[in-house]
Amino acid sequence: MSGDDASASRASPAGAGDARPPAASGRPPVAAVPRGPVAVPALVRRTLPGRELVPVWVNQVGGTTWRAEDAAGPGLHAKWAPAGSGLDLDAEAERLGWLAGRTPVPAVEALVRDDAGALLVTRTLPGRSAVDPRWLADPVRAVTAVGAGLRALHDALPVDACPWTWSAQDRLARVRPDVDDDVRAELARTPDVDRLVVCHGDACMPNTLLAEDGTCSAHVDVGALGVGDRWADLAVASWSTAWNVGPGYEDLLLEAYGVERDAVRVAYYRALWDAGP
Ligand SMILES: Nc1ncnc2c1ncn2[C@@H]1O[C@H](COP(=O)(O)OP(=O)(O)OP(=O)(O)O)[C@@H](O)[C@H]1O
Ligand SMILES: [Mg+2]
Repeated sequence: MSGDDASASRASPAGAGDARPPAASGRPPVAAVPRGPVAVPALVRRTLPGRELVPVWVNQVGGTTWRAEDAAGPGLHAKWAPAGSGLDLDAEAERLGWLAGRTPVPAVEALVRDDAGALLVTRTLPGRSAVDPRWLADPVRAVTAVGAGLRALHDALPVDACPWTWSAQDRLARVRPDVDDDVRAELARTPDVDRLVVCHGDACMPNTLLAEDGTCSAHVDVGALGVGDRWADLAVASWSTAWNVGPGYEDLLLEAYGVERDAVRVAYYRALWDAGP
């Protein structure tokens, strides 16, 4: 069965920042906290009957994430990916399973699908995203927590035991078809690896949860996690401070991580990110 619930659900209060800069290459608009009603996919309603569904995020490929409240049971989050969107929730569920006990991430409750899409249900973690209005109002603390949280993630995860890669070489094979030849030629000149770590794969501010004391409490959105140069994450994490907070915070993130800015690797991994699917 497919289709959307006719009754759209109200978004949570507006105010949190956008996740991405306005997209190039004809990609859909930015991912963001929804500011109006969002249609509830039938699979979400069917999988979580009786729960109040609050839309908390709409991504660039039309996927939606819901907070599913139930006074009697544990809080859940439900991430829905439309069929054909390229969002791989199987990959995310596998990585969440591998990460459990190694670093704080949501526990997987269910992974289901129908003709219209797939749905990953996880236990709600305490804390708020680093782009929650609470943290956007305290950007120094938020950016510091994201940098320190990324360092903690990299330090915690064993490269040798990680089954996935996010190397530049592998990502070069997935560069979008519309990317110009001169950009491809630049990307073919990959800098030497500075330090191999298990990269988050989308280490932007919205994917970092912060506890009430302003420290990083968990990471979400780990579908691309894999072994790569730490600058692949650092380039995107520092860039996301500009998208989400504004100019002037990139070096604070790097300082909180504990590294000096490497301008060449930052530029390379941002270009690779921009050329990706
Ligand atoms: N289990 C959870 N507990 C608490 N918050 C969660 C949980 N799962 C998701 N979230 C919140 O929902 C938001 C959206 O989830 P997620 O980042 O996985 O979606 P996405 O569409 O892949 O995001 P992106 O636009 O970055 O690709 C997260 O930024 C986080 O704030
Ligand atoms: Mg996300």
